[in-house]
Amino acid sequence: MSIEYEIVSRIVSSRRTIRKFVDKQIDESILLDVLSLARLSPSGANRQPLSYVVVLDEAMREEMFKHVKWAGYIAPDGTPSEGERPTGYIAIVSDDTISKSPDIDLGASAMTINYLLEARGIGVCWMGAIDRVAISSLLGIAEPRRLLLVLAIGYKGEEPVVEDMVDSVKYYKDDEGVLHVPKRKIGDIVRII
Ligand SMILES: Cc1cc2nc3c(=O)[nH]c(=O)nc-3n(C[C@H](O)[C@H](O)[C@H](O)COP(=O)(O)O)c2cc1C
Repeated sequence: MSIEYEIVSRIVSSRRTIRKFVDKQIDESILLDVLSLARLSPSGANRQPLSYVVVLDEAMREEMFKHVKWAGYIAPDGTPSEGERPTGYIAIVSDDTISKSPDIDLGASAMTINYLLEARGIGVCWMGAIDRVAISSLLGIAEPRRLLLVLAIGYKGEEPVVEDMVDSVKYYKDDEGVLHVPKRKIGDIVRII
């Protein structure tokens, strides 16, 4: 096995959604570097409809926090308390004049950003349960631009574990407060012809 494969495998398997962060600022330069690599992600017809709004300012972060929802299956247990909140957000935005179907580009970009941040020890929570109207207004995102997804980011303050799914996809916390994330078994999802 090549060293590259080992490194990438480690990054892929260690990535878990993080919802507890430590109070340590992320350098702007790290985010610029990560986004300039995410810029190279695949894009349908190479249209590249995505752009990014990075929120690091403390007052703006407090506002963002009001408009996102955490861990539906275990709410309110997955909501980060004061001092454990994200130290940044990346809003991923599309431009309808460039592409009307940016969703697959979005997945490619968000995943690339997530793995690059993982490699820097920074955790991510993809946030789809958001108040798009409120966040768009806060960040000045207006037509033809459209807010697609928010990534909450920060240095990790928890270590969730992955396990084979038995009978439910619902993640849960154990008695020690560790988050367990069930994944479907390989034999249940792959068919080789
Ligand atoms: C498109 C998408 C939207 C998501 N939205 C939210 C969200 O609004 N709030 C939240 O706490 N987690 C959200 N998540 C995180 C999922 O709950 C998480 O990925 C899932 O439980 C599997 O955990 P894992 O990422 O550690 O493998 C979202 C994930 C994806 C891919």
